[in-house]
Amino acid sequence: MKSRENDSPGSDQDAAGASGLPAGPDELHTIGPDHQTFAALARWVPEYGDCFCVQSRDRRDPSLVVSNPDYIKHILLTNHENYAKGVGFERVKMLLGNGIIVSDGEEWRRQRTMMQPGFSRANIARLSEAMRSQNQALRGPWGLLADSGQTIDITTAMSRLGLDVILRSILSRDLDRTIEREGGNPFGFLAEDTTRDIQTAVRFRNLARVILGLVDERRRTGERPFDFLSLLMDARDRKSGAGMTDKELLDEVNTLIIAGHETSAGTLNWVWYLLSQHPQVEERLLAELAELTPGDDFSFDQLMALNYTACVLKETLRLYPPVWLFSRRARQEDRLGALRVPAGAHIFITPYFLHRRPELWPDPERFDPERFAESRSPPVDRYAFIPFSAGARRCIGDYFSFVEMQMHLALLAPHFALRYEPGAHQGSREAIELDPAVNLRTRNSIHLGIRHRNTT
Ligand code: HEM
Repeated sequence: MKSRENDSPGSDQDAAGASGLPAGPDELHTIGPDHQTFAALARWVPEYGDCFCVQSRDRRDPSLVVSNPDYIKHILLTNHENYAKGVGFERVKMLLGNGIIVSDGEEWRRQRTMMQPGFSRANIARLSEAMRSQNQALRGPWGLLADSGQTIDITTAMSRLGLDVILRSILSRDLDRTIEREGGNPFGFLAEDTTRDIQTAVRFRNLARVILGLVDERRRTGERPFDFLSLLMDARDRKSGAGMTDKELLDEVNTLIIAGHETSAGTLNWVWYLLSQHPQVEERLLAELAELTPGDDFSFDQLMALNYTACVLKETLRLYPPVWLFSRRARQEDRLGALRVPAGAHIFITPYFLHRRPELWPDPERFDPERFAESRSPPVDRYAFIPFSAGARRCIGDYFSFVEMQMHLALLAPHFALRYEPGAHQGSREAIELDPAVNLRTRNSIHLGIRHRNTT
């Protein structure tokens, strides 16, 4: 099979067969968010490059795997109306009903337009105050672990933090009331149980009672604490002036809970691990954080001006994008350069393998936050770096997640040094194995040695 690595968009005529479809492997494979696909793409993306075709026993229409930034721009931005959400969302639908991550067409547009203002910089700045206290509250328990020379299960710790941050942003003080009434956090199992099977979906959907109860209470009392739930309840359709139905509110709250916690938590899990492996990066990060106003009193603007910290996060998202694979479905026939995209074709975009293409990223396996420095020339191609996707359906929570992650690093990294101790993983580095499911996670929890830093 012809290698497609060095082809540039538009020069693909020779690679396209008589059908106009791009070349691809002979073996049949059903692409999906699983280990088999991960292993197959690890071979095929380097071999076939920009765009290749995979046939499957289970799918009538061909699957095209696209890893060329210009083609990606075409699909996600220029001609995005032609590309509906693709396969792989069935399991997500069980959890999220018809929330904006799965809906399409007019329904999606209406919901997205109503939700977008809630994610303004000003709103997120206000929500970040709760994030500040949540992170400050971690110092006590982390300090105890450091005092007693124990390790920290950073994977679980980040998962709990991610869940706490999004729940507090959605429910604010109603979260405390709910915990009191229910005798514990009814959503807590989401941070512990990372399998997203039918049982979890049923358990999660049963929490509708809790959310709709709070909606009802806020309607009756007229109370509107500052949080995402109030912002969603008060959002109005521009044309009709109508608000969201209870079902819509529920699906969107559930969407924010699920989409909003695993992704940031997974990224922070990797950040801590990568920092533990790269002392020079850690040193530069600490130097930048030391410039912040002491005593945790830094402003939101100072937090968001942390350049190097943002580069560290971007480089982590390059190497370990939580959404490592996503899909679209072509409504009408289209073209990517000289390649034909038949109507009904499944499109797969894989940030993980795109972000590791040596044609786009020199020395791609190296952890090097400097790649994202503003002074770097040439700058990063926007469509070669898509951990949040791009275009109309770009992640609505991208800015929120940077605020959340920068706040975490700003408040914890200057106080604690986390070190990877192979012994904590029954003896080997290989324990850091990937678990490529709907989200890219580590198969096992990462345990890190923890000690106090000498901060003055
Ligand atoms: C590091 C953190 C995050 C990453 C890497 C991430 C990644 C993504 C990606 C790749 C998509 C597009 C999926 C597709 O088009 O098929 C997406 C969509 C979405 N994300 Fe995020 N996300 C993150 C954090 C968040 C947070 C914190 C929230 C909520 C507060 C959130 C809410 C959403 C929603 C609602 C959508 C659907 C948007 C739409 O279709 O209009 N995400 N995210």
